[in-house]
This record gives sequence, structure tokens and C-alpha cells, in this order.
Amino acid sequence: MTAPAVRFADVAVTFGRRTIWREATFTIPRGAFCALIGPSGSGKTTLLRIILGELRPSVGRVEVLGAPPRRGNRAIGLVPQRGVLLDDLAIRARDLVMLGLNGHRWGFGGGNADDRRRVERALDAVGLLDYADEPVGTLSGGQQQRLFIAQALLDRLELLLLDEPFANLDVKNEHEIVALCRSVHREQGATIVVVTHDLNPVLNVIDHVVYVLDGRPREGSIDEVLTTETLSRLYGTPVQALRAADGSMFIR
Ligand SMILES: Nc1ncnc2c1ncn2[C@@H]1O[C@H](COP(=O)(O)OP(=O)(O)OP(=O)(O)O)[C@@H](O)[C@H]1O
Ligand SMILES: [Mg+2]
Repeated sequence: MTAPAVRFADVAVTFGRRTIWREATFTIPRGAFCALIGPSGSGKTTLLRIILGELRPSVGRVEVLGAPPRRGNRAIGLVPQRGVLLDDLAIRARDLVMLGLNGHRWGFGGGNADDRRRVERALDAVGLLDYADEPVGTLSGGQQQRLFIAQALLDRLELLLLDEPFANLDVKNEHEIVALCRSVHREQGATIVVVTHDLNPVLNVIDHVVYVLDGRPREGSIDEVLTTETLSRLYGTPVQALRAADGSMFIR
């Protein structure tokens, strides 16, 4: 039997005297397409950092792909929450992707002919081949997100984490990111975990939910979580979970 993609057992995170969340016990099965939701500041990025092995929990046990989390695990890809990181970056798009392939071996600009071909194929897959030589900082938000997905496509990815990939994206770019996630999910059989405050873009593709409510991360089935009542508690404001005539769901 394969171990789940992620397993938390009674995990807590404390910074100084502040407990961010506690009693986190949940599983994300292999091959799940999972949404991670919760109010701003509830500790979603922190939870991803624990999965990535960047942060050690104060209490509890964590297993990722059947082993304790460790930094630099090539089976795990991250599309980070958009910040200042990329905007000032002068390196070319192809170099950022290449870094995912061989960062520690070559540094910028290196790689053999085979590596360079793989990078170009990944850039092509996310529709950015024409931007290969542009400085990363000049790319739009959606293009930068896709660049990270291209980087993830190079490895034999088993787990893809995305932190607010839809923030500041228009609907077309949203669709493209979701389509890329679906192909990584389907073709590579990868587990997808997407942190998002807007569930609508992924509502009809997710099959699992982890949510942080009242300082405790929990898992739930789609039917349990995506109800008007739970979502209103999660968002702290009345929202409605609705089903359209064609059976698809949306939240407003
Ligand atoms: N290294 C750290 N030291 C101290 N406090 C931290 C640290 N990292 C995160 N925090 C705090 O932990 C809390 C949760 O932060 P986190 O970034 O995980 O929230 P989030 O759910 O991702 O929020 P958002 O939706 O706004 O991105 C915040 O109050 C933050 O200030
Ligand atoms: Mg965050």
C-alpha cells in the first residue's frame, strides 16, 4: 500500500508564545486534488512550509510521501505565494526554470544541451517559449506562476503545492493555471495541494479539502465542507454554495 501524500498527526506550530494552529490531524491521499483553505493569517503558508521541510512543527508527527519532510525533495514542487521575490529579478525566464533542473549543480545559465532542450519543452508546455529570454521580473503575475509550474514539470513530480496561484489573475489566466494543474495531476499522477481564498476556480476539480477553522486544520469531504454553513464560518461572512443547472458548483 502506498503511503498518503501527506499525513499530519496531532501537529502544532508555535512562534514564540503564539500558537498559529494546533491538533492538526489529517491525511491528503496520493493523487488527490486538494484545496487548502482558511482565513488570511490562519497559517496556510506555514502549513506548506512544514510539508516542504522548511519549518519544523513544535509538536506532532508529519509524513510526506511516506517519509519525514526534508528540504530540497525533488518530488515536491512549489508555486510560491506572489511576493516581491521575482519582481526585481534580472535573470531570464529560461534560467529560472533551469535552476529547478540543476540549480545546485550549475548555477545560472549552465546545463548541457539535453538540459536546455528539457527546459524549452517545459517552457513550451506552459506557453512561455516566446518569453524564454525575458527577465523574470518583467513577466506578468500569471506568467510568473506558470514559470514555476514549468520548473515543476521538469522533475518527476509527485506533489505540487500552489500558494494562492490565482491572486491577481484574470479569468483566462486562472483557467490556464487550473488546466496546467489538471495535466500534472492526470499525466504525472501527482497530488495537487492548492491554497486559495477563491475556491471558484477549482471548485469543480478538487476532490479533497483541508481547512483551517478556529486554529485547527482539519480535512473534510467536498460535500461536508462546501456547504453554505461551513463556508460562511470559514470566510467569516455569509456566502452561498450553489449548484448550477449543469451540476457545476460555485460560491458567491
Ligand atoms: N517565521 C515566523 N515567525 C513568526 N510568526 C510567523 C512566522 N511565519 C508566519 N508567522 C505568523 O503566522 C501566522 C500565519 O501566517 P501564514 O503566512 O501561514 O498565514 P496564511 O494563512 O498563509 O495567510 P494569507 O492567507 O494572508 O497568506 C501569521 O500571523 C504570521 O505572522
Ligand atoms: Mg499565505
